[in-house]
Amino acid sequence: MTQPHLTVITHPLVQHKLTIMRKHDVSTAGFRRLLREISLLLAYEVTRELELTTTTIQTPMCEMQAPTLEGKKLALISILRAGNGLLDGILEMIPSARVGFVGLYRDPETLKPVEYYCKVPNLLDQRMTIVVDPMLATGNSSVAAIDMLKERGAKNLRFLCLLASPEGVERMRQAHPDVPVYTASLDEGLDDHGYIVPGLGDAGDRMFGTK
Ligand code: URA
Repeated sequence: MTQPHLTVITHPLVQHKLTIMRKHDVSTAGFRRLLREISLLLAYEVTRELELTTTTIQTPMCEMQAPTLEGKKLALISILRAGNGLLDGILEMIPSARVGFVGLYRDPETLKPVEYYCKVPNLLDQRMTIVVDPMLATGNSSVAAIDMLKERGAKNLRFLCLLASPEGVERMRQAHPDVPVYTASLDEGLDDHGYIVPGLGDAGDRMFGTK
């Protein structure tokens, strides 16, 4: 079966938690708690295609061939800083994953993303690599982060966000058609400042209590 480029995770718990997170008056603590909870559910969906193999184990009753994940540990890559909010919950679900960070800022002249930090696990070419950033807005930083990861060998990539704009999804589809995008919602679009509408505001500010 071919993988769709965009998967909207419509699980009722995801949708319910997301609605609460969108509300303008949710506290920082509440937002963070919901983000952690929702990321556990998103992790479940984004890892559906992981390959299994079998291993021989001994139960208290008998020996059996039991399923176990095949291959190298996953790589989780957080796009700083808001990606860290999604990362924490996913790591709870996949504690043995290897973790990397990508930092980008927007050049005020060219408006293009510029790398200021990149530290990623080794052997990316042999790992499923899940890139996390809560907001897929213009898609500029996501595309740049995936460019950087491909340059470092990543081949089997997924992109996971909480909200996506149609513009961001299209930009990703054009630049990286081989990277499936998972989101809890495809929102209406972007405002003049590149914010997702209806969205939830600035995800980093909301999870870290900054302004
Ligand atoms: N980044 C955010 O935090 N929110 C948006 O709506 C867009 C980008």
